[in-house]
Amino acid sequence: MRLLFLADVFGSAGRRAVEERLPALRDELGADFCVVNGENAADGRGLTPKLADRLLAAGADVVTLGNHVWARDEIGPYLAQSDRVIRPANVASGSPGRALAVGQSAHGTPVAVVNVMGWLFLDVPLGPFEVLDELVEEARRRAKIVVVDFHAEATSEKVAVARWLDGRVTAVIGTHTHVQTSDARIQPGGTAAITDAGMTGPHDSVIGVEADLAIRRMRTGMPVRFRPAEGGVRLEGVVVDCDAEGRATAIETLRVQHP
Ligand SMILES: [Fe+2]
Repeated sequence: MRLLFLADVFGSAGRRAVEERLPALRDELGADFCVVNGENAADGRGLTPKLADRLLAAGADVVTLGNHVWARDEIGPYLAQSDRVIRPANVASGSPGRALAVGQSAHGTPVAVVNVMGWLFLDVPLGPFEVLDELVEEARRRAKIVVVDFHAEATSEKVAVARWLDGRVTAVIGTHTHVQTSDARIQPGGTAAITDAGMTGPHDSVIGVEADLAIRRMRTGMPVRFRPAEGGVRLEGVVVDCDAEGRATAIETLRVQHP
């Protein structure tokens, strides 16, 4: 079984890359299941129902989110009725949507996907360790293959969560920083992990934003309206192989220039 995870899709350049490249990429890689983080697809912040549908139509089996989950008003009602687009578990109680999706691979094998945010440097009401055990248990009741999208800022927390879940899930894939790390590994218990899978979007930028705008905001401390960049587009992510029991056997980073 081969899983493809595409890292944070940023702005229209990232979304176009997914639509134009993902269908063929799935075939070329022989991917049986594909998860796409769509957290930055709508102009760099959040996701709209229309864009969510487009990511699904392009070949995502499940779309995950992150700290910008509520950036677009329209997404609440959409999440409330979607079983393939999920939001992090640790948002305010009573929020619409789910944090666990169970899809089916190309061969009919169930695959569970879980979405959780980090606590460090992100404004979350609950830390990841408060919600992960129950969520992972529920996922494992429904599927042997479990993928966790851990959307977080701090390397330390991402490594700790990956280790905490070692042996209980197939892969813990870090998202949010948009810079792909070179620590893709199989942990001792058989769980694949990477601190950050990168970004599917314009890399000629400051993590997706037009560089001069991001620099101006940092230099002056003044409000500057961000615009998504356009240049240097790459699809980034990871490919994870696993056995029928959900143990990872390989993980490799993916970087594909587009076009
Ligand atoms: Fe994020």
